[in-house]
Amino acid sequence: MEPVPTPAHVDPSRVVDIDIYALPGSADDFHAAWKALQGGSPPIVWTPRNEGHWIALSGAVMAEVQSDHERFSNRIIVIPKSVGAQHGLIPTTIDPPEHRPYRKLLNDGMSLAKVRKMHDSIRHVAAELVDGFAARGRCDFTAEYAQVFPIRIFMSLVDIPMDDADSIRLWAECMTRPNPPMPFEDAKRAFYAYLDPIVTARRASPGDDLISHVATADMGGRALTHDEALALSTQILIAGVDTVVNFLGFVLLHLARHPEVRHELAAMNSAGVASATHELFRRFGLVTIARTVKADMEFHGVQLEADELVCIPTQVHGLDERINACPMQTDFQRRAPRHSAFGSGPHMCPGQELARAEVAITLEEWLKRIPDFRVAADADTRCSGGIVGQINRLVLEWDR
Ligand code: HEM
Repeated sequence: MEPVPTPAHVDPSRVVDIDIYALPGSADDFHAAWKALQGGSPPIVWTPRNEGHWIALSGAVMAEVQSDHERFSNRIIVIPKSVGAQHGLIPTTIDPPEHRPYRKLLNDGMSLAKVRKMHDSIRHVAAELVDGFAARGRCDFTAEYAQVFPIRIFMSLVDIPMDDADSIRLWAECMTRPNPPMPFEDAKRAFYAYLDPIVTARRASPGDDLISHVATADMGGRALTHDEALALSTQILIAGVDTVVNFLGFVLLHLARHPEVRHELAAMNSAGVASATHELFRRFGLVTIARTVKADMEFHGVQLEADELVCIPTQVHGLDERINACPMQTDFQRRAPRHSAFGSGPHMCPGQELARAEVAITLEEWLKRIPDFRVAADADTRCSGGIVGQINRLVLEWDR
C-alpha cells in the first residue's frame, strides 16, 4: 500500500517506512525480521504504510497497550483501519465491561477441564494423519497435516460434519489473509449462511458441543441473540484455525533444522512436552493485532491522537532481550518465559489451552513415528505476513 502523508503531530524521528505485512527480510525469517526492527528502533514508532499507524515494539509497551482498555480500545484491531472497521466480531471488538459476559461464556466453553476431555480425540486425529504418510518418507506438512488437523479439531469442538471442512477452511483463510481470493465480508457472509440453520437447530435441541453452549448461554438473565451466536462462533473459527496451522509450520521447520531440539523433545514425557510448548509459543508468536487510541495522550515520548491505531506484533514481545535472555534460542529450561503470543489483558486468547494441547499432542505423535526429518528441496519456506504470519509450504522428508 502506498504511504500516506505523516500527520504533523508525529515526530519525524519516530517514522519508519515499513509495511507490517511485508517487513524487509521477513520472507526469509519472519521472526528475525521483526527482531531486527525491534533492535534498531525506539519502543514505539509510526509507519505511513497501511493508511498510517503506530507500532509498539518493546515488550513492555506491547503489554501495557494490551492490558489498558481504559486508554486503548478493541473497537478496531485489524490494520488497515478501513478493513478493521468492517470486522465487528464478538468478543474481539468489544471492550470491558460489555466484553466480560461473552468472555465468561468462552472461558467456560474452552476451559482446561473441557480441553482435557478432548485429548483422546485430538490424539486420535494426530496419529491418524501422521500414520497416513509416515511410511512414505515425505509429506507436504502444510497441506497434509497443518491445514487439516486444527480444522478437524474445530469440527469436533462444534460438532459439524467433516465433509464441510474444505469450505470452512477457505472461509477462515479469507478472513485472516491480506488479499484473499474472497473478500472478508463475502467469506463472513458465507460462513454465517452456513452456520445459520445449525445455530437454530442447536438452540432448539442443544448437544454437548461449543455451538450449543454458545446458542443457549445465559447472559445474565437473557439468552444470546441469534446474530450474537453467529458472530461468536465465527470468531472462534477464525481465531482457532489459521493460528494453529501456521504455528505448527514454524515449529516443525525449526525442528527440521535443529536436531538437538527435536531430540530433546522426543526424550520428554507428555508433561515435559506440554511444558515445552510455553517456550515454543514465546519463540514463535505470529499474530499481529492492533488497538484503537481512545483519546489524545502523551505516551512513551510520542503524541497519540484519538482513533489512531497502535499495532501489536505479538511475535516480537517474547523476543525482546530486556524480557527474555538469549531470546532467539529455544531453551526448554527457561523459567516462566514471558510473551504475548496469546495476547495479554482482557482479550487474552481463551483457546490457549486447546492450542497448547494441539501442539503438544502433535509433537508427541509426530516424534514417536518420525524422530528425524529434514526440509525437502521443493519446500517453499519463505514466510508471508498477515494478521497471522505464515510459512508458504513446508515439505518434509525422512529416511524410511
Ligand atoms: C497458535 C494458536 C493461537 C494463537 C497464537 C492465538 C493468539 C491469540 C491472540 C494474540 C489473541 C488476542 C487478540 C486481541 O487481543 O485482540 C487471541 C484471541 C482469541 N483467540 Fe486465540 N490463538 C490461538 C489459538 C486459538 C484457538 C485454538 C482458539 C479457539 C478454538 C482461539 C480463540 C480465540 C478467541 C475466541 C479470541 C478472542 C478473545 C477475545 O477477544 O476476548 N485461539 N488469540
